[in-house]
Amino acid sequence: MTPYTIMTEFWEASFQDKQTMWGFEPADSAVNTMELFYKNKIKEILLPGFGYGRNAQIFKDNGIEVTGIEISNTAINLAKKHYGDSVKVHHGSVTDMPFDQTKYDGVFCYALIHLLNTEERKKLINDCFSHLHSGGLMVFIAISTNTPSFGTGTVISKNRYLTPHGVKLYYYDSMSVEEEFGHYGLEGAKEINEPAKNKGNKPSQVCWQIICRKK
Ligand SMILES: C[S@@+](CC[C@H](N)C(=O)[O-])C[C@H]1O[C@@H](n2cnc3c(N)ncnc32)[C@H](O)[C@@H]1O
Repeated sequence: MTPYTIMTEFWEASFQDKQTMWGFEPADSAVNTMELFYKNKIKEILLPGFGYGRNAQIFKDNGIEVTGIEISNTAINLAKKHYGDSVKVHHGSVTDMPFDQTKYDGVFCYALIHLLNTEERKKLINDCFSHLHSGGLMVFIAISTNTPSFGTGTVISKNRYLTPHGVKLYYYDSMSVEEEFGHYGLEGAKEINEPAKNKGNKPSQVCWQIICRKK
């Protein structure tokens, strides 16, 4: 099996089993990003790793047009059930970007980039940047080496682990954020808790919020 097939099967099985597993509340960082996009008059965005679209509603509610990219057909069907035809989602892997020639004002990429290997991460950043209009913003949320689960599972390479759940995770530190995003208009990066407050049985993870602007 190719890494692509393994990744597809993992996410297909997860969505078939757990359906809309994170509910329809947006992630706290999606709410913060909405404020940033609002201030920057952003009207059209791309959401790579769309899932079933729990983060799309807040942008749509604020008049932003949303396009997703998602590897799991089941997740796309869940999104269609919820949104009808009001969001467009390309079915495929971000490793095969671009799926359209659209220039977007913004990209919001939540909890996807850390699932990829070094080459795939580089290509995703470059492809997202290429999709931006000049002045456009891209925001990535990626897991940090300071998250409590860092170091669990089997080491694949430096800061990359196969977790007990069967997911490969690359944990970012300040150096790798600078290394990977530094040439793409990196405007700021800070560690955040996601969710912002611990919610009972769902402990927060420490993530990087990385903001880049295309000049
Ligand atoms: C951790 S989930 C986050 C989902 C969504 N961003 C959210 O917050 O609800 C990662 C998502 O990325 C999708 N995904 C994983 N690898 C992908 C790839 N190579 N290309 C496109 N989507 C992918 C998964 O199917 C899943 O929906």
